Amino acid sequence: MLSKIGAMLLLPGLLAAGCFRSSAPRGGGAEAIDPGLARQGAGYYSDWGCDACHGDAGRGTDDAPSLAGLGDRWTIDELALYLFDPESYGAGNARVRELQDRYPDVEMPGFELPADQLRAMSAWLLTLDREE
Ligand code: HEC
Repeated sequence: MLSKIGAMLLLPGLLAAGCFRSSAPRGGGAEAIDPGLARQGAGYYSDWGCDACHGDAGRGTDDAPSLAGLGDRWTIDELALYLFDPESYGAGNARVRELQDRYPDVEMPGFELPADQLRAMSAWLLTLDREE
């Protein structure tokens, strides 16, 4: 329970600390993913409407990029911050800015949800390439 509260406090803290500025994606695909957390996130993908733009199983559409292979450049915590506020995150991240330029007519919406839910979503996203 304490850790859940901690996670909910963490996100605003990171936002306030301006962590967007220094967030060059580390990734590397080496991050251990808790299978329980990823399972919890799997259901959010269609519940939150991500599939409307990113397609079935994150394969991508004309409106938004494929979500395969995110582990090469994202960690769970970075993704959670990005999902919360893609616009602000993009301001400090050249690769995200480049993606925004590639899809000028569609805007990735922000999901201002509790950090533990965003982390579960992110954990599942990082398993996408591993299932293929
Ligand atoms: C309205 C369409 C739309 C919806 C809905 C949407 N996205 Fe996106 N997403 C985009 C676009 C467009 C981009 C490209 C970057 C940008 O324009 O901000 C993007 C970028 C991303 C990226 C970065 C990909 C990379 O290669 O680094 C991730 C991760 C992502 N979205 C995940 C999600 C998740 C998870 C959801 C649901 C919670 C979601 N998106 C909902 C349109 C959408």
